[in-house]
Amino acid sequence: MPSPSTSEPGIGQSTSAFRCIGCGDLSDTAGQNFRCVKCGDLLEITYPERKEEKPVAEHLKSIWRERRLSSNPIDLSGVWRFRDLLPALGNDQQAITLREGNTPLYDLPQCARIAGIPRLLAKHQGMNPTGSFKDTGMTVAATFARRAGFRWVACASTGNTSASMAAYAARGGLRGLVLVPEGKISWSKLSQALDYGAVTCQLRTDFDGCLRLLQELVLRAPVYQLNSINPFRLEGQKTLAIELLEQLEWRSPDHIIVPGGNLGNSSAIGKALLEMRDLGLISRLPKLSVIQAEGANALVRTMRETGGKRLVSVRAETRATAIRIGNPASWKKAVHVIEATGGTCEQVSEIEIAQAKAEIGAEGIGCEPASAVTLAGLKKLVKQNFVTPDETVVLVLTGNLLKDPDFTIDFHRGELFKGKESTSALDSLRRPPIVLDANLDAVIRTLEQAEKS
Ligand code: F0G
Repeated sequence: MPSPSTSEPGIGQSTSAFRCIGCGDLSDTAGQNFRCVKCGDLLEITYPERKEEKPVAEHLKSIWRERRLSSNPIDLSGVWRFRDLLPALGNDQQAITLREGNTPLYDLPQCARIAGIPRLLAKHQGMNPTGSFKDTGMTVAATFARRAGFRWVACASTGNTSASMAAYAARGGLRGLVLVPEGKISWSKLSQALDYGAVTCQLRTDFDGCLRLLQELVLRAPVYQLNSINPFRLEGQKTLAIELLEQLEWRSPDHIIVPGGNLGNSSAIGKALLEMRDLGLISRLPKLSVIQAEGANALVRTMRETGGKRLVSVRAETRATAIRIGNPASWKKAVHVIEATGGTCEQVSEIEIAQAKAEIGAEGIGCEPASAVTLAGLKKLVKQNFVTPDETVVLVLTGNLLKDPDFTIDFHRGELFKGKESTSALDSLRRPPIVLDANLDAVIRTLEQAEKS
């Protein structure tokens, strides 16, 4: 039997409102496209009551600690455990949860040495139930979709969102519609959406084309969109940062480095950092920096060419398919949090991504290519002296190694960049599978050769 909930009166009950990030208009309701009715910009969730009555930081910390001892499903979730900083549920039983969050914070000593800093940590969001950080946002957004009475939820995706949405829809008794670019997402992610029973459409376009179509669909059909344009998603994803700071005993790291695609996750982490600072949960803001693939560098170009004032869209191309996005929806939110925390953005090449991924893998951790941009970016930021050798850095690994096995196998077999570019930097990291006769001598010879190399 679940133990009684640890929600207390006055805690976990803060009412929320929608605020336009462009004109600041406040509203109690949001349309299907989650855009401001006055100026068309994106909405975010805000908590007006906090201005009058701030929750006490020490009180919050002790409630969150206490809930770790509870066996109530909502307390076992690493997202809903922090529900005091999320939109109010009303009834704890309403949450659609797969025990998301609760992800490990690992030391990466070899990668630290490679990057040239004494200590490097990785918050591994690939350890979530469906293998990516999307679950932390999906539990909240799917819950509010069901609460609003929707039967259908939908998303456009480079793969992970669709896997996550399909799972939470199934758990919550909702129908799921998935729009993915045909041939441009990994089979592992596609197989998840199928297994969890979503209606899965492979559209002959890219991610940006899928998202554009979804925006039109939600205005015509009663489906609730669960892309990160949906601000409930970002509220859930805030808990990545809250949980991280709790793991660090509320001592802020100097830097948090995150991959950037549609830019929802960086926006969510930044929002959490600013809220935690305002509530007195932390006394110092970490710098939040976003890394993109060179072939999908809309934010980098936006910052460099327009000072973050106007989006520069790109035609995206990268083997890190999760971040193959050229027209990021949450670019304005991301620019805001990068500037507010004093972070930066940087881009990395395909070879740098593959190298960093193999280096993380060699620590026994593993991640998908899009996550590895963080280490590749860190190396650049150290060279630029933006990260200095005495600073603590946390990389956010967004997806599990098993999300994209083709990339890993192609890399180790030497097929990833075949005939394209010089890849000698990668040779020492390759561990191709060795085909042998079933012969003891052959295996011993292989062992001896490996020992020598
Ligand atoms: N890393 C992984 C593994 C992702 O799947 C994504 C986005 C990102 C990083 C970038 O995060 O979009 O919040 O900036 N994947 C989306 C999807 C778009 O459809 O699964 P972002």
